Amino acid sequence: MKKKMRLLVLLVLMVLAILVQGLYAGSHSGNDDGAEILQQRCTVCHDTGRIEQAGFERQVWERTVERMMGKPGFGPRLSDEERKALIDHLLTL
Ligand code: HEC
Repeated sequence: MKKKMRLLVLLVLMVLAILVQGLYAGSHSGNDDGAEILQQRCTVCHDTGRIEQAGFERQVWERTVERMMGKPGFGPRLSDEERKALIDHLLTL
């Protein structure tokens, strides 16, 4: 009986761990993490050196990101949400 109880506790813990992981992944769906987008999408052709030193205002970033998305090899365009999250992050650099 005691052994069964321990197994049950283990099972409950495992289910909880999976649930927590799912919640965490869910909060990141649609990618609204500007820092992550920067790392994943803006370091393919160059590093972040010029990006971090740019010090652009929002309007200039809007134009620059638009220009980058037009470059061959950029891949799928960023969604409006991704672009906003990215630019919000760029403004904090
Ligand atoms: C497909 C390749 C590619 C990707 C991906 C890319 N860039 Fe660029 N980027 C370039 C090239 C090529 C240049 C230099 C020529 C130019 O400025 O157009 C450049 C230059 C820049 C500059 C300097 C421009 C200036 O006016 O001083 C900034 C800032 C920049 N990129 C930001 C970004 C950001 C932010 C992203 C992510 C959204 C990004 N890049 C993704 C190719 C890319």
